[in-house]
Amino acid sequence: MNAPAFQRTLVTAALPYANGPIHLGHLAGVYVPADIYVRFLRLMGEEVLFICGSDEHGVPITLTAEREGIDPKTLVDRNYEGIRQSFAQLGVKFDNYSQTSRDIHRRTSQEFFLDLHRQGVLRQGSSLQYFSEETGRFYPDRYVEGTCPNCQNPARGDQCESCGSQIEAEELIDPHSVTDNAPIVLKESRHWFLPMGDLQEWLQPWIESKTEWRDNVLNYCRGWFDVGLGDRAVTRDLHWGVPVPLEGHEGKVLYVWFEAPIGYISSTREWAEAQGDPELWRRWWQDPSTRLLHFIGKDNIVFHALLFPAMLHAHSESYIVPDNVPANEFLNLEGQKLSTSRGYAVWLPDYLDHFPPDSLRYCLARNLPEARDTNFAWDEFQARHNHELADILGNFINRSLTFTEKYFEGRVPPRGRLLDQDQAALDGILEAAQKVEEQMRGFQIRGATETLLLLSKRANRYFDEAQPWATRKTDMDRCGTSLYVCCQYVRAFAGMWSMVLPFAMQQLWTALGVEGELGHEGWPRTDRWLEEGHPVSRPPILFSKLDDELIEAEKSRLVDLDPS
Ligand code: MF3
Ligand code: ZN
Repeated sequence: MNAPAFQRTLVTAALPYANGPIHLGHLAGVYVPADIYVRFLRLMGEEVLFICGSDEHGVPITLTAEREGIDPKTLVDRNYEGIRQSFAQLGVKFDNYSQTSRDIHRRTSQEFFLDLHRQGVLRQGSSLQYFSEETGRFYPDRYVEGTCPNCQNPARGDQCESCGSQIEAEELIDPHSVTDNAPIVLKESRHWFLPMGDLQEWLQPWIESKTEWRDNVLNYCRGWFDVGLGDRAVTRDLHWGVPVPLEGHEGKVLYVWFEAPIGYISSTREWAEAQGDPELWRRWWQDPSTRLLHFIGKDNIVFHALLFPAMLHAHSESYIVPDNVPANEFLNLEGQKLSTSRGYAVWLPDYLDHFPPDSLRYCLARNLPEARDTNFAWDEFQARHNHELADILGNFINRSLTFTEKYFEGRVPPRGRLLDQDQAALDGILEAAQKVEEQMRGFQIRGATETLLLLSKRANRYFDEAQPWATRKTDMDRCGTSLYVCCQYVRAFAGMWSMVLPFAMQQLWTALGVEGELGHEGWPRTDRWLEEGHPVSRPPILFSKLDDELIEAEKSRLVDLDPS
């Protein structure tokens, strides 16, 4: 395989909103594939930085805070801790996890805005906004309620839930604020706009050159180019957010979709400061030998494939732009769309209270919505855990190491004379490793996981056919050779499976007593076979079966929430 043309990779995962815990949809769309990919690069010995943080501004945050009677900062700090911990417990291992409410982000995004402003990239314009004479405040759409002009039902400021129609600000009848009931009028407000139409000239050919990007991303962008990009307001009349750093702009903040992606840069700067080298972030953002990848869900495509690249390109310093934006489709739950407002979701902290982290990583990896929406079902989760992890992978590892312990004093047996089937089995490891590498490089993480499962099935078949339980009585050399091969499989699994199953494979790695760190030295290579005589021990049971009871409890909780 060709050596990569870049020297390091910066991987970002979409900053999750800080107004609630992480659920399975987020994990399948963004964090599990991103983490598996990063672990893969580290196994390949490449330099990589994995950046994330909480997205803490925006109207849903202030609405939740007001409902709970706390200030937004208290809310986001509390949620930040919860999210950070559950990521860590799932083994999603960022190099830095920051917050957009921090000072470093305020400075970074204000500087970014000022750079565009000073260059004359931004245009000033005005728009009609909901405003209350009584409170002297502008109100975002979601804070305003009135009567729908089409169906006469109560409706929110931008859309009617009853008839589904989009409502223009001036059409809503009798508008008033949902929080304090104050009557609302429309008022001109001055804002700054990013002229995306002008930037289309650069964006369009750039996107068209990205022939290797996923079709969903390319098609989505083409759809935008067809209608033509327009000016995008990058400021808002709000109090919670990054203040617009210009005189006479009190009560205005940067649009959350303008500043949130800059959060990737702030988080990298925070990381660099923690390394004791505050300028180190530039190596990751401004050096053309760095490759930038954004892992996102499909609802984020416009911001990561168009808006943020346009911002980076327009900045006067030479930022790199993304090399790929592997966006995923959505994950359904028991055949239905997730709904956070109805609570129809599986929340990560709840999951982790009952089940092991690796099983979820595996089950999602096998079923990633890479090309189309996919489904999570508890029965399938149980079946995959019990049959694929416990019966196939776990059983093979356990049998191989038990036999080695019992009949070869816990040492890798001598290789002896390899028969064709032994050689083929050993070759099979390297062939599969190469296939997994190709799939991973093409962001086919689901396919790579399947390849690993097929290799695990093959290992079990080899064990069954070699029958070490019989040969140990008739031909100890033959028995040793078979177990030698099995030990190499176990070694290779510890490495490759660690992308998906980091906790179980770390236990295995420790039991194998191999020198070096699993995350760096794990990938199988001929010069990394276990040596004859190398002492190995048996790890504890890696995957114990999941009982029906546990699964039934999860299913009935969801059935209670199902409105249909
Ligand atoms: N919070 C957004 C979401 O969950 C993602 C923000 S990604 C960023 O959809 F780039 F804007 F930070
Ligand atoms: Zn209506």
